[in-house]
Amino acid sequence: MIKSLRNQLVVALGLLVSVIGIVQGVSSYQLSKTGISALLDLRLEQVAARMRDGFAEGIPQNPARGSQDDRDIVVVVWKAGEDTPFRTTDPALHFSPDASPGFSNAMFNDEDWRIFTRKEPTMTIQVAQRSSVRRALAEASATKTLWPIAVLLPLMWIAVGLVVQRSLRPLKRLGNEVQAIDTAHLKPLPAAGVPAEIAPFIHSINTMIERLARSIESERNFIADAAHELRTPLTALQLQADNLAPHISPGNQERFRELRRGIARSGSLITQLLRMARADAPMNSEAMVRVDMATVVRDAIADVLPIAFQRGLDVGAEEMVGSHVRAVEADIGIAVMNLLSNAVRYTPDGGTVDVRMRRDHDKVRIEIIDTGPGIAEELLPRVFDRFFRANADIEGSGLGLSIVKAIAIRYHGEVTLRNRDDGRSGIVASIGFPVDERADLSPRENTAATA
Ligand SMILES: Nc1ncnc2c1ncn2[C@@H]1O[C@H](COP(=O)(O)OP(=O)(O)OP(=O)(O)O)[C@@H](O)[C@H]1O
Ligand SMILES: [Mg+2]
Repeated sequence: MIKSLRNQLVVALGLLVSVIGIVQGVSSYQLSKTGISALLDLRLEQVAARMRDGFAEGIPQNPARGSQDDRDIVVVVWKAGEDTPFRTTDPALHFSPDASPGFSNAMFNDEDWRIFTRKEPTMTIQVAQRSSVRRALAEASATKTLWPIAVLLPLMWIAVGLVVQRSLRPLKRLGNEVQAIDTAHLKPLPAAGVPAEIAPFIHSINTMIERLARSIESERNFIADAAHELRTPLTALQLQADNLAPHISPGNQERFRELRRGIARSGSLITQLLRMARADAPMNSEAMVRVDMATVVRDAIADVLPIAFQRGLDVGAEEMVGSHVRAVEADIGIAVMNLLSNAVRYTPDGGTVDVRMRRDHDKVRIEIIDTGPGIAEELLPRVFDRFFRANADIEGSGLGLSIVKAIAIRYHGEVTLRNRDDGRSGIVASIGFPVDERADLSPRENTAATA
């Protein structure tokens, strides 16, 4: 079971409040019962005192049997030396005049009675009441004292729940902030307004984020510097090769071409490494502009057209919506270009590459669909890994898709690659970026560009 601080607090505080409530309820019940008993005793005593003042004569000499209500007080007055009562409100009851003065309990006619006996020089006065009636009166009144607790207890549980939830809100907010951290969006957690107990955690997490940012930064700088440093000797190599070209004997032409291909491969690897480093760099929001996606797509298509033409590939665009995103234009261009050049590179001669652009909720989505061999399903999850290549026969550095992924994450977009599901072989590469809503809230009329 997942331990939840919130549940633990609610249960502990709720139980505590309940125990206090129950103890309070039981004690007020008992106190109220004893209080009512004392009051009823006092009443017996007072009635006895009035009888002494001559009120006894007011009691009828022969009251009808059973004329008294069960709840009434029974009064019996004895004259000194006589063994039948001088007056009694209930002739069926025969208390004993020899009872000791004060309060006592006795059984009469199978009923328990509470009796107060008062001895005067000339008479004995006994005032009595059924214990069951007294108990019922005391219990009825004591039960009423339980109502407030009965109503308050559930309310207390609700209050405890709300208070705990409110107190833990900063934690929940922090949890969300921590969840949003990724290498592309590293920023310290806000320390303002958090409870003092949590502040040390935030401090530690922020120190860790800082260290992480520094190490990512130095790794990125290393890649960028290394690529940059490699570029100069490679350019020199390229120049040397160009100068050598006229002097290569016909027998060595093929080996020389291989050498130049190697130089070109190294050149594009360096370009991709630099792009990779740039895509991972912290974002410079000042360089961001409103990028017209249709233009980006058209430019990318124009770039691949010469090779496509050479290889007899049909590259076409359809379903184009006018949409803008807020970004550094080169980033979006590189992302789209990498996907499109993959489609062109991995589709055999004479194939087709379709580019579509549509609105998908708050995103503008570009889909590039080719008629190439596709990618084995088990390799698909790895295509975004750095230096991963699924097809060793065709040249590539294996960095293109990881650059695309880094750019997508950077702009809160997303990129996916899947095999076509329409029965044909080929890849559907899809990339979506959040639309810059300020100007185009609705899709504009579709424009079409076909190559
Ligand atoms: N449209 C596609 N059809 C078939 N395979 C593809 C397609 N796109 C990518 N792949 C496979 O995924 C691998 C990774 O692609 P990625 O773009 O990252 O690297 P690359 O194309 O080899 O090199 P780079 O793009 O850096 O020049 C490729 O090597 C290729 O095997
Ligand atoms: Mg590629």
